[in-house]
Amino acid sequence: MKTLGVVTSGGDAPGMNASIRAVTRVAHSRGMKVIGFKRGWEGLLANTFEQLTPRSVGGILEVGGTILYTVRSPRFKTEKGIEKAAETLATNNVDGLVVIGGDGSFRGAHHLSRNTDTLVVGIPASIDNDIFGTDETIGFDTAVNTAVTEIDKIRDTAISHERTFIVEVMGRQRGFLALAAGITAGAEVILVPERKIRHTEIFEKLEQNEAKGKKSSIIVAAEGVGDNREIANRIRERTGAEVRLSVLGYAQRGGSPTARSRLLACLFGSKAVELLSKKHGNLVVGLCLGKIATISLEKSCTTRKALDLDLLQLANLLAT
Ligand code: F6P
Repeated sequence: MKTLGVVTSGGDAPGMNASIRAVTRVAHSRGMKVIGFKRGWEGLLANTFEQLTPRSVGGILEVGGTILYTVRSPRFKTEKGIEKAAETLATNNVDGLVVIGGDGSFRGAHHLSRNTDTLVVGIPASIDNDIFGTDETIGFDTAVNTAVTEIDKIRDTAISHERTFIVEVMGRQRGFLALAAGITAGAEVILVPERKIRHTEIFEKLEQNEAKGKKSSIIVAAEGVGDNREIANRIRERTGAEVRLSVLGYAQRGGSPTARSRLLACLFGSKAVELLSKKHGNLVVGLCLGKIATISLEKSCTTRKALDLDLLQLANLLAT
């Protein structure tokens, strides 16, 4: 293995830079040259890259986002796009490609891996934590902490005004971020797409809280639940409570990665290079029960990761 390519793709996640740094430095220590493709898959379509050296990746460990930039690339998903990307890898003699990204990036990586001789390894990085084969993705812990910091602040104003707040968090169609942020912020109600809940259940919970003397409540809702403004309106109509919706938005994707996100980035980056140097490819690196593990790229992108719905009951119990 002489030349290694690295690409960040899909939505950015805090810790992507830390993993670029780890991949570059570990690969360099094993005598490999590293090139970083720019702007996700578009870099492989346009053959735009920069050489990464141990020095050029200095000062990025603690920086959010990705120095390689990222885009969502519909062009890459076509047969022509895959062909072009494979050609770019061959032209640059790239023996191994590290793809740092989420589930969409891994589907692309899997498709590419079937059309190239270059070995491909995925490093899961996404605030959504929705990748099968790892208990946790790079960036998830940072996003949870960002959300909780904001929810704590919203709690202050909710208590002062005796209001109910719906706090909408990201996560696309999955509820990992909402569940973790909801439990750790002590939310009275958590709404996730994986468990459909009737509006009456929300009303009842809020009414029980009111009866117990709680004058304010926080509902943490995943964006994938649907129209959270509509839910706020329904609660207002039904309970007469003052309800506000606060959408946390893209701040959840930014910021300096937490120590935990950085550690995962270092461990996943190092493992990815180790696999490629042993000529093992078409794999995803992950964390399973506290240990660094690997799973096939195909299995990772064709299997749905389960959300532990029992945790909703625990959250309910803890927020009495
Ligand atoms: O996948 C990460 C994520 O931030 C999701 O939580 C969110 O739904 C989506 O990306 C937003 O995507 P975009 O950057 O394309 O608006």
